[in-house]
Amino acid sequence: GSTLQAAAAETGRYFGTAIAAGRLNDGTYTGIANREFNMITAENEMKMDATEPSQNQFSYGNGDRILSWAQQNGKRVRGHALAWHSQQPGWMQNMSGSALRSAMLNHVTQVATHYRGKIYAWDVVNEAFADGSSGGRRDSNLQRTGNDWIEAAFRAARAADPNAKLCYNDYNTDNWSHAKTQGVYTMVRDFKSRGVPIDCVGFQAHFNSGNPVPSNYDTTLRNFANLGVDVQITELDIEGSGSSQAQQYQGVVQACLSVARCTGITVWGVRDSDSWRASGTPLLFDGNGNKKAAYTSVLNQL
Ligand code: XIL
Repeated sequence: GSTLQAAAAETGRYFGTAIAAGRLNDGTYTGIANREFNMITAENEMKMDATEPSQNQFSYGNGDRILSWAQQNGKRVRGHALAWHSQQPGWMQNMSGSALRSAMLNHVTQVATHYRGKIYAWDVVNEAFADGSSGGRRDSNLQRTGNDWIEAAFRAARAADPNAKLCYNDYNTDNWSHAKTQGVYTMVRDFKSRGVPIDCVGFQAHFNSGNPVPSNYDTTLRNFANLGVDVQITELDIEGSGSSQAQQYQGVVQACLSVARCTGITVWGVRDSDSWRASGTPLLFDGNGNKKAAYTSVLNQL
């Protein structure tokens, strides 16, 4: 294939990008996105603060704009994200206990119902595990409602949209030897053994020199897949430039391709100038929309 989406499709996979509603008027941006990618994630527009700015008053304008753009161009959509400690609306941030639990479940139900039938996979819960060596849950208002908040969110999402795949999504879970990776693995194994509805695990894959692509990435992806879930690279970006960046991108693609249930890769933005990272050049296209060495290495590896 001569584009990322065409090359990925040759092995039955997708290649996606995050899209920002505020950039849909930029023709260079939409031109590249439409040509290269066939899976779309809303960068911010389907998050809790965007979709429920006041309690029980839902706001889908920007999320729907991204969904329509994707549908008009024949692309599928990953939903991101139903429950998360970050980017919560102000009214939710100081809630606790059963009121917060109910509000969270209502949010999951309402948003998943609004998008019912239109989402390939939802990141139902994002970033619920702690960094560091504990392997345990991250402290958050949601976690303090009880350890079962994650499975409650997954059950609510399944009831609202039975055809969407339901994913757990996190970062720093790429290296098999890290405690955080093991913590998530243990949770997914437990969910599968008890019939909690989980279909996939997303690996954000935000890499930099302090957090490089691990050499055991394929092991991590394979071990998760062997639990009976799909795995996906969901927010890929890699700080750096030139051939070293290209090589790291190639390693991520290689790891995914080596695992049958690694169903797709999404990069977290189109051009370097679209990246959420304050500085640096972590994506596949430069600020002018030109293909970088990283692009070519990804295309050749697919
Ligand atoms: C980021 C967006 O890219 C930024 O525009 C926003 O200001 C903050 O969130 N992990 C995630 C994503 O799951 O939702 C985050 O996206 C990046 C880290």
